[in-house]
Amino acid sequence: MSDPAAIPATAAIPATAAIPATASPTVEFISLSHLNPSTELNPVSTRGIDLAYFRTYVRSLEEAGFDYTLLPYGSNSADSFVVASAVGQLTERLRPIVALRPNTAFPLVAAQQLATLDQLTEGRAVVHLISGGSDVEQARQGDYLPKDRRYARTAEFIDLLRRAWTETAPFSHDGEFYRFDEFGPGFAPYGATIPISIGGQSDAAFEVGGAKADIFSFWGEPLADLRGEIDRVNALADAAGRAERPRIWVTFRPIIARTDELAWRKAYEYVTRIERTYQAGGARRFVGPGGPQNVGSQRALDFAARGEVYDRALWTRTAAATGGLGASTALVGSPETVAAAILDYVDQGASLVSIRGYDTLADAVDYGRYILPLVRQEIAHREATGRRGTLQEQHPGALAPGFDAAVAAGAH
Ligand SMILES: Cc1cc2nc3c(=O)[nH]c(=O)nc-3n(C[C@H](O)[C@H](O)[C@H](O)COP(=O)(O)O)c2cc1C
Repeated sequence: MSDPAAIPATAAIPATAAIPATASPTVEFISLSHLNPSTELNPVSTRGIDLAYFRTYVRSLEEAGFDYTLLPYGSNSADSFVVASAVGQLTERLRPIVALRPNTAFPLVAAQQLATLDQLTEGRAVVHLISGGSDVEQARQGDYLPKDRRYARTAEFIDLLRRAWTETAPFSHDGEFYRFDEFGPGFAPYGATIPISIGGQSDAAFEVGGAKADIFSFWGEPLADLRGEIDRVNALADAAGRAERPRIWVTFRPIIARTDELAWRKAYEYVTRIERTYQAGGARRFVGPGGPQNVGSQRALDFAARGEVYDRALWTRTAAATGGLGASTALVGSPETVAAAILDYVDQGASLVSIRGYDTLADAVDYGRYILPLVRQEIAHREATGRRGTLQEQHPGALAPGFDAAVAAGAH
């Protein structure tokens, strides 16, 4: 054995090997759950649950090694709480994330539902609070508050969730949005508490999420832009005097194939099919006449207008094709390139990475085989050696000199 004192000091590590100070030392994976085989590539006319498919889907996520699954919510979707409860019973380890709009439940009832889910899953429940990105969509369920007020309501809602889970004696409340007398102690969660995530990118979303959320979530953005957004969250968390900053969740729709070239071909073919689906009205939009009101979608459309490819693998054509609706930006490339691109975001501080493909079930299986192990291997390597591995250096993707997505795809 060589003398450990002879190991070069950190300063001697080549720049490519040094782990950035902003990097998260851990990463966990999320994927959204689908209830039936309908996709933006192959729309099937159903709004219902295909139980056999749903069972297969959530079990596949668990087998693929995903840590969490998001159960989304819309006025015409299945109920996210009921679906989350089913996910809990169909899996052993996967953590259901319930998308919840505060306008749909009195906070103490939501706290009770979440605590019940947490007990039924032995501590796996997570809640993702959605304040509502569209006035038109909110009005469908009788919510007429403007967005800033919706976020103020979310702030009060969060405080009440936490109190309902932890207060050991009855308490009363007379706030701006909620009032009640002598509640509690409430039904307790299985664990000490339940993680609360926030989605949204308006100023009000940052104010509430930075000060109060355990997790702050984003859709995929260029690295420099996301860096700025993470700095905003951190600054607000620090200003609120919090001991811990919110974890950062970032969401992509990867398009992978054996090589970068094959993946870019696939991406171009996919976007044509997705455009056809949206033109045919096969995916319902929550968008009013002036375009999307939620800042996340506005940003996605703006990135798409400014450029097609960013950084190592981020592709915006899919966001343009869907009108920036929901998570739509892609990561395109071989599994190695996409894993390296995910690590670029981990280097910026993301510790929760959501990946869901356009070919939903098949992609979940492929990600489990080809992407999750590569990212986890790099994280383990970093932990063991204190240095970066070679994956990011060896798979530049679109960072390679002279790269052109259309050329890579054989489009001209
Ligand atoms: C990861 C993630 C998941 C989301 N899931 C949902 C959802 O299930 N239902 C929904 O209506 N909005 C969902 N949203 C959208 C935003 O939460 C919503 O538009 C926000 O409340 C208001 O947007 P703004 O603050 O950016 O303007 C999600 C956002 C993110 C980042």
